Amino acid sequence: MNEEKVNLKAPVYIPDSSYRDYRWMGDYETVYRESVENPEKFWEDIAGELEWDKKWDNVLEWDYPDARWFSGAKLNITANCLDRHVNNSRKNKVAIIWRGDDGCERVFTYRQLFREVMRFANGLKKLGIKKGDRICFYMPFVPEHIIAILACARIGAVHTIVYAGFGSDSLHQRIVDSEAKLVITADVSIRRGKRIDLKSIVDEAIVNAPSVERIIVYRRTKPEIELYAEMELDYYSLIKGESFHCDPEIMDAEDPLFILYTSGTTGVPKGILHTCGGYMVGTYYTSKYVFDIKDSDVYWCTADPGWITGHSYLVYGPLAVGATILFSETTPDYPDLGVWWEMVEDFGVTILYTAPTAIRMFMKYGESWPDKYNLESLRILGSVGEPLNPEAFEWFYRVIGKSKLPIVDTWWQTETGMHMITTIVGQPMKPGFAGKPIPGVVADIVDNEGNPVEPGKKGKLVIKAPWPSMMRDVWNNRERYEHYWNDIPGCYTVGDMAVKDKDGYIMIIGRSDDVIIVSGHNIGSAEVESALVDHKAVSESAVVGIPDDLKGNLIVAYVILKEGFTGGEKLENELKYHVRMTLGPISMPSDIRFVQSLPKTRSGKIMRRVLRAQEMGVDPGDLSTLED
Ligand code: PRX
Repeated sequence: MNEEKVNLKAPVYIPDSSYRDYRWMGDYETVYRESVENPEKFWEDIAGELEWDKKWDNVLEWDYPDARWFSGAKLNITANCLDRHVNNSRKNKVAIIWRGDDGCERVFTYRQLFREVMRFANGLKKLGIKKGDRICFYMPFVPEHIIAILACARIGAVHTIVYAGFGSDSLHQRIVDSEAKLVITADVSIRRGKRIDLKSIVDEAIVNAPSVERIIVYRRTKPEIELYAEMELDYYSLIKGESFHCDPEIMDAEDPLFILYTSGTTGVPKGILHTCGGYMVGTYYTSKYVFDIKDSDVYWCTADPGWITGHSYLVYGPLAVGATILFSETTPDYPDLGVWWEMVEDFGVTILYTAPTAIRMFMKYGESWPDKYNLESLRILGSVGEPLNPEAFEWFYRVIGKSKLPIVDTWWQTETGMHMITTIVGQPMKPGFAGKPIPGVVADIVDNEGNPVEPGKKGKLVIKAPWPSMMRDVWNNRERYEHYWNDIPGCYTVGDMAVKDKDGYIMIIGRSDDVIIVSGHNIGSAEVESALVDHKAVSESAVVGIPDDLKGNLIVAYVILKEGFTGGEKLENELKYHVRMTLGPISMPSDIRFVQSLPKTRSGKIMRRVLRAQEMGVDPGDLSTLED
């Protein structure tokens, strides 16, 4: 491993005095120590704040690398996200404020959301959906998306949500792998005033997907699209006449809650499996501890429900703590670059959780846009998805946080289910560093043999103890699950390189595998390569990520053409479009380079590292394994 020294100098931002006393559980050092000395007590105390139909026999059964958390316990996560609040003081509290792309709004109190969820749950039951059945979602940013997610969990079905920006091949792969019985979709998604047809993508994706029995279509535009009566059903027809009452399915703590696909190092995405009990405890804990969500807060997470951030911190976590959640279809630059800040002012947003790519975009257009609005309601800012680089941190802190708000830069993954490393409210902040592991999380930076590396040296980030919201399996692929735990014995290897400073703050440097993070979204190099090779002109391809000020990384594809094809602008555009249509716009390469050969190891593996170095004009490092 390249143990080069990293420059760790960073200014320290001391939080405003009003935040220094922030304590939910006590001071960080003490709580952290206690949490790792006696993890079962720590997690049991948190779980005890939630409602269970039956308490656990054991907090943790750890049979490396398999964990069973709260085994023997019975629950339904929606009983904690809905019934618990409706039966207590939050009955008429606002649960969700939705704002559409065109500025229209809809509001659901906890009671109203509860009723809509139960009604849709009854609709699902009517279709014969049972506990354990998989339901695939391909939905836009509308309240019915959240209603359907919760309805699915209410009856014990397993949701597998596919981000509605993915193309038909990506959707098809996920439907087939999860063997979804039902697909829930909409006619269109509306972004920047434009309609994006979702239904036709579903139509393509279900060809040769024999598991799919029905499709529910939420029609949001007129004239209503026609449905194929044998198989397709209108959202409202399904729930018409259904009762507003549906008892929750009582689930075992270890029953599946959802599968969420994430990109890996091969062309096939991994179906990360999360289960009911531990996931609920992890997302509840972090929503309360990291975001400090209180009844008076208006919490806005800008993520799409199709990503893990949407699952954990738009839906389950904030609802488990009883938050008022702003859920917005709005893109940050439409109708103009002030719309997000106008919304902060308008709704009195207090906690804003967003991504570095959005912050960098705002930076580019200057301070005049946010400066037009009153942002005084804000009290906590959050970031997720990729490193919050020091320049973006500084801008977020000064321009949005008015040089006094805490920024929680939360490091975590689809696989971890919950925040793992972050500066917490009240701790000194260091731009470029995510922070320290939160209580209950044992993280370290190690070399290839698993020995801890000293502060200042690069190494692999690992987690050394199980945590409740950890993934339990890779759907249909036990081997890939074990791979996470086999790379370094005794550890969960996350796939990121990182470095620690002398105070234990962790800086995430980037992926150690062939996953490229573009605007906070994981893209597997191999997925894009196989989409390219799928095109008739391409014989071989290699895809790398190149650092970019705005998006974090750009995708650059090297392509060897088949005999009889010549590279040029026309073919470049055709290949880009081909990737866009098969995988979706986020996976589209920014540049395509036509080449005669690719650097390979003697065993035939493409050395993407060499291409990346060449692209960036830096030293490619050790070339001893290069074939030619
Ligand atoms: O490389 C890390 C980066 O995103 C990866 C996880 O991606 P995904 O499963 O899609 O989940 C994203 C949302 C949780 C990580 O392995 N990443 C995520 N958050 C951060 C980050 N890198 C640096 N700083 C972060 N705060």
